Amino acid sequence: MSEAIARAHPNIAFIKYWGNRNHDLRLPANSSLSMNLDGLQSETRVRFDSALSKDQFILNGKNQSAEPLQRLISFLNIVRGKASLRDHALVESHNNFPAGAGIASSASAFAALALASSKAAGLELSEKELSLLARRGSGSASRSVPTGFVEFHAANKDEDSFATSIAPPKHWALVDSIAIVNEEHKKTGSTDGHRFAETSPFQSIRVEGTQERLKQCKQALLERDFEAFAEVVELDSNLMHAVMMSSQPPLLYWQPGTLEIVQHVRQWRREGLAVCTTIDAGPNVHVISLQEDSDEVSARLQEISGVVKVLTAKPGGPATEVS
Ligand code: DP6
Repeated sequence: MSEAIARAHPNIAFIKYWGNRNHDLRLPANSSLSMNLDGLQSETRVRFDSALSKDQFILNGKNQSAEPLQRLISFLNIVRGKASLRDHALVESHNNFPAGAGIASSASAFAALALASSKAAGLELSEKELSLLARRGSGSASRSVPTGFVEFHAANKDEDSFATSIAPPKHWALVDSIAIVNEEHKKTGSTDGHRFAETSPFQSIRVEGTQERLKQCKQALLERDFEAFAEVVELDSNLMHAVMMSSQPPLLYWQPGTLEIVQHVRQWRREGLAVCTTIDAGPNVHVISLQEDSDEVSARLQEISGVVKVLTAKPGGPATEVS
């Protein structure tokens, strides 16, 4: 019997990952760039035990079955294969952020699971190997392994598709104020969405331009140039939603509240506030600002009628083992 516990943060992508070149291996269609979200985390305990007759998964105190359990078993099978292990596992995981808050829990969940399960299986993986492994559970989880601001390199080969840190959390005092407009679970998750992406006539154009936008975003980030950063972050999010809306079936994640926030933020920026938006596969809006303006931004967001609540997060660190 052996056990390990690990923690990881979710992340918000400034340059989005949407679509895969290989769905089984989760090899992304394009590279992406993100920031880990401090304060929000998944904590996961894994115990491999020869006395267990099957894998068991408890998430936020509830025993899981069907798709979530299947996804976990597929992941554990990869780890068992690497470690030549046959034991089943008990996996207990807890998120400190509300379920259905529009924050992708799969990123922090699979990054924490990659670290905890590999340690419990007796594997000593490098950061690159952990990022590769986390990607097999959820593409964006590869970005929750390294620290701070992170680039996920898209490639044709499994061993080349992993994420690396481009700057530590303290590099730039950005804050993500997550404006929640709806806490319901989304109807179409990212795994299906990635499959639909290639049916959009805009996907190939989006993918083609990603490398250039990633270069611009990375440069703006490294130079702490908020204006240049805001422009490319909003463009990249809009391009991903254009693909979503024009895929077959079409995915329309925005709700009236989503647009209300986007319009307000545009106005605030015109008034001189350093602030911009990015939206994932859901209706909630990630409002990115400088730390010095974040209290003001959060207060203004809370006044918008469509906003249910606002969560805030600073740049976060890497996935870590809890001893
Ligand atoms: C819109 O990593 O959630 O958040 O591999 O199916 O778990 P799976 O997909 P996932 O896709 C992320 C999609 C996104 C954009 C991004 O985070 O880059």
